[in-house]
Amino acid sequence: MISYSLPSRKRIKIVALILLCIGFVLPGKAQTGTQGIIPQPVKIKSDNITYVFSREFKIGLGPGISASNVTFFKDYIRLVRDIHKTTPFVNHKMAASNLWLQINPKRVSQPEGYTLEVKPHRITITGHDEAGVFYGLQSLVQLLDINKSEIAVKGYSITDYPRFAYRGMHLDVSRHFFDPQTIKKWIDLLALYKINTFHWHLTDDQGWRIEIKKYPLLQSVSAYRDETIIGHKKDSPHRFDGKRYGGYYTQDEVKDIVKYATQRHITVIPEIEMPGHALAALAAYPQLGCTGGPYKAATYWGIFDDVYCAGNDETFTFLQNVMDEVLPLFPSKYIHIGGDECPKTKWKACPKCQKRIKDEHLKDEKELQSYFIGRMEKYLNSKGRQIIGWDEILEGGLTPGATVMSWTGEEGGIAAAKQHHEAIMTPEKYVYLDYYQSLYPAEPLSGGGYTPLGKVYNYEPVTNELNGEEAKYIKGVQANAWSEYMASPAQAERQLFPRMLALAEVAWSPKQSKNYDGFLKRLRYHQPLLNLNINAAEVYDEITDSVAETADHQVALNLQTTLPGAKIFYTTDGTDPGVNAKEYGGPIIVASTGSIKAAVFMKDKQVGRVYEKSFTIHQAIGKTVTLKNQPQGGYNPGNTFGLVNGVFGSKLYNDGQWYGFSGDDLEAVVDLGSMQNVSKLGINILKYHWQKMWEPTLLTFEVSADGTNYTEVYRQTDFPDNGINAVRANIKIQQARYIRVKATNKGIIPPGEYIAGAKAWLMVDEIIVQ
Ligand code: ACM
Ligand code: ZN
Repeated sequence: MISYSLPSRKRIKIVALILLCIGFVLPGKAQTGTQGIIPQPVKIKSDNITYVFSREFKIGLGPGISASNVTFFKDYIRLVRDIHKTTPFVNHKMAASNLWLQINPKRVSQPEGYTLEVKPHRITITGHDEAGVFYGLQSLVQLLDINKSEIAVKGYSITDYPRFAYRGMHLDVSRHFFDPQTIKKWIDLLALYKINTFHWHLTDDQGWRIEIKKYPLLQSVSAYRDETIIGHKKDSPHRFDGKRYGGYYTQDEVKDIVKYATQRHITVIPEIEMPGHALAALAAYPQLGCTGGPYKAATYWGIFDDVYCAGNDETFTFLQNVMDEVLPLFPSKYIHIGGDECPKTKWKACPKCQKRIKDEHLKDEKELQSYFIGRMEKYLNSKGRQIIGWDEILEGGLTPGATVMSWTGEEGGIAAAKQHHEAIMTPEKYVYLDYYQSLYPAEPLSGGGYTPLGKVYNYEPVTNELNGEEAKYIKGVQANAWSEYMASPAQAERQLFPRMLALAEVAWSPKQSKNYDGFLKRLRYHQPLLNLNINAAEVYDEITDSVAETADHQVALNLQTTLPGAKIFYTTDGTDPGVNAKEYGGPIIVASTGSIKAAVFMKDKQVGRVYEKSFTIHQAIGKTVTLKNQPQGGYNPGNTFGLVNGVFGSKLYNDGQWYGFSGDDLEAVVDLGSMQNVSKLGINILKYHWQKMWEPTLLTFEVSADGTNYTEVYRQTDFPDNGINAVRANIKIQQARYIRVKATNKGIIPPGEYIAGAKAWLMVDEIIVQ
């Protein structure tokens, strides 16, 4: 179903055989799936009739419908032809057609919309336009029953159209390069799930990936980096593989991919990043940087101080010349010009940039960024194009026609819409597919974060903060895939699928029809088909948990699976659970230190991997904690129980356990409720300078009987470990009721360090009292 560019008859046979066997070989899990369309249509009804495909199956194309729309459908039928002996022919007569395709904007008023009618004598798809017809075919493919001796489809009647005009998927090909065949394979999947925009992130610090004939060094120098970091950027010291890495798309390849996408009603938006993320270009043309270099394409991931010089006119000449070659390759109305993560360090010290600020009467470097974007916008407008930029383009004021792609949060999109600028919602917290999709430690290395399938699915792009008029400026939604930790297509696919299908439903289906359980049922049916040709993840039915406080301040572990009819079995003795272990029937009260292992079982067969959670039970569990400063952003669990819940934050810091203070100190007081013997105090501190997470300059523990007069019992200034620093202080046994923990934030990240000048994060979890 997925492979439309079919390599060989042999493969067709194999795939067809697998398809035919699906009903017999799948474990119980997939049988809980239900055939249905992803994304869920606006209206879908079925009746008892069945349309059976004849051996000579004729597809009729009404006026205005190009044959390219049916290519994939024919391929799909051909995929199963060896068994079903069905051959589709194309004609132009309704009466002689088994499947009639027509355009009728009067019958279907919504752009890209369609109706699909399956009657005993004929299937009819009516589109508002060609795209609508194409999407009707995508729906039909998903409804075909190919498990019997003949291909058949039930009598469906569908009315369908998209919620958002912009339904996007982004792909970074700078950090890792994916060949044109792979890109085309993924474009087929975008089309199948009715995503209509492919945002192609073509340039960045680690590699320039599009041929620009006027600047041959972009091909010979900028397209390559000397080596690549091994492991995660936060690991220290950094290690490298010593292997030159790179590649680029020739203009012919770009044209071919854009044509391929266009035939599938997908607009390709190129992103040529500026003024930041420019190292690869600067490596070839150092005169475009503030200091003149020398520069090298980056060999690790992050934000780099060296950006295009905004005071040098040659920078604009270069970028305009680049655009002169880019624009003819991409007919899209929008051109993405980046604008994110541009440090101002070099501009502050650059005489040319400072002269520009003076000459243009700009207030500061933020306005200089606005000037930069505005100058490029004018140029692109003069060529009939509109710009999109990441939300940092709001910083020094939005330029007149800019569309904002809101990624750091939803605020950028909201601000843009309120200013009556178009916005596309891509908040990292919900729709970054390079983030982890499971908290199981066995997950492959990812960027960070946690965006499981359900979180992507439940993302709502139009927030309540916008009134009806403003909401119209939210043009759509997009998922982003940054490829730092996607070194191969297989790794990328595991991140993209099936979460991209959830995004597709967010983008297409009516808000009121969204239902995660219903989506999962349809997904479980799609999953084996996805698995045929895609390395899709299948972790969404594994165990998720929450750790709660009981009424009497104990720790309770809740476990869930989304798999209907499944049971969870668990152990507390360290062994892997089987069906003879304890069956989970409600919150598990955790009264002693140890680890709980659990797994999902369907009809006595284990589904997915083994879950494990460790607890350290101590005297402060469930006690009242008072914080002087509140944790911030993504590191604010929203309560203080997490500091005394017996669960330690993990090294991936994406589990909601860590409390993060940006620039602020920690001052926490634990009230044990009564005078108690205390002999050991502890806290965990996370230190990753490469993630802006700094150890405190001073940590102290103090004890008190009355909450007013404290005695210091321990101090520490050295936190040597990159990662979790587990502070465990043995103190002289004494009586205390109150424990005060103070940790002094590093403050501003010092010069020479990663993101110098920014506020350091102080990251802490679990205050342990024993
Ligand atoms: C981004 O994720 N830097 C747009
Ligand atoms: Zn400069």
